[in-house]
Amino acid sequence: MDKKVTVVGAGFVGATCARRIIEKDLADVVLIDIIEGLPQGRALDLMESAPVEGYSAQIIGTNDYNDTKNSDIVVITAGIARKPGMSRDDLLQTNAKIIKDVVTKVVSQSPNAILIMVTNPLDVISYLAYKVSGFKPNRIIGMAGVLDSARYRYFIAEALGVTPHLVHAFVLGGHGDSMVPLPHYSTVNGIPITQLLSRKKIDEINERTKNGGAEIVALLKTGSAYYAPSASVVEMVKSILLNENKILPCCVYLNGEYGLKDIYCGVPVRLSKNGVEEIVKIDLTKEELASLNKSSDAVKENIKKLNL
Ligand SMILES: NC(=O)c1ccc[n+]([C@@H]2O[C@H](COP(=O)([O-])OP(=O)(O)OC[C@H]3O[C@@H](n4cnc5c(N)ncnc54)[C@H](O)[C@@H]3O)[C@@H](O)[C@H]2O)c1
Repeated sequence: MDKKVTVVGAGFVGATCARRIIEKDLADVVLIDIIEGLPQGRALDLMESAPVEGYSAQIIGTNDYNDTKNSDIVVITAGIARKPGMSRDDLLQTNAKIIKDVVTKVVSQSPNAILIMVTNPLDVISYLAYKVSGFKPNRIIGMAGVLDSARYRYFIAEALGVTPHLVHAFVLGGHGDSMVPLPHYSTVNGIPITQLLSRKKIDEINERTKNGGAEIVALLKTGSAYYAPSASVVEMVKSILLNENKILPCCVYLNGEYGLKDIYCGVPVRLSKNGVEEIVKIDLTKEELASLNKSSDAVKENIKKLNL
């Protein structure tokens, strides 16, 4: 492969991202973790799957950042995940400490990489990574909107009994209870869901989407979701590596767009080989804009707690 992707954190999300990237032959992967043996074991297991699955991409596991040198993309999943009863914000102080250390090491080895942040609380962690890295903000992108929208898309498909991939939908705002699903930008093969589902049903689906992560945490009892999160990360990796220019909802730095300044928040962006190629402006209703503001106020409160 002529592309190299590092995945930091060889836990559930990281290992599943690594697997999806090599199974699609998108890039060679370096899987790195602080636990000795964990990334090495996962990587060897994945290489032993290659003869059966038929992929050519290589993966190595390591605890040494020298191996991550000159990565094109670095996906950062290192940190602790939620347990039942915890909010994403409860992870803040522990994960912020981990991210400062990880980002410093990553950028020293890969000064031209694009960073995809996954660790929660996502919006604040993405802002922190932007500050610590010294990179231009187009190269620090948080993954949340693709996942939240995927959940929304699935719930819509389930309600209508249609195949999920024909459902397109957008969820903007922060990756938390204040996320903003946009029913009037959500369609089934071009037909707005507002013409297919009752207001009551759409409200129910909006609520379920906002609690989509917690629903899985409650079922699993230990750990949080990783299949849909890793699929969402890889959708972003693919759009960047293959220069697909997909418009995807991502957590990005806003400097006045949507009336928000010096903050990371989920909005539609065009993702190319340069990272964020363009922040796409769409019309929002007054209520949606108010929700987006509320969502970003919650992120600002958390940023303050970091004393940056
Ligand atoms: N953005 C999203 O939509 C989204 C979705 C799912 C999970 N997450 C978040 O992703 C993170 C990872 O979730 P998970 O389920 O994979 O957790 P996990 O516990 O399975 O894996 C985390 C891994 O990070 C490693 N780690 C900890 N400190 C490290 C360091 N300093 N350097 C390198 N590795 C380190 C741990 O050893 C562990 O293997 C959590 O914060 C979770 O909340 C975010």
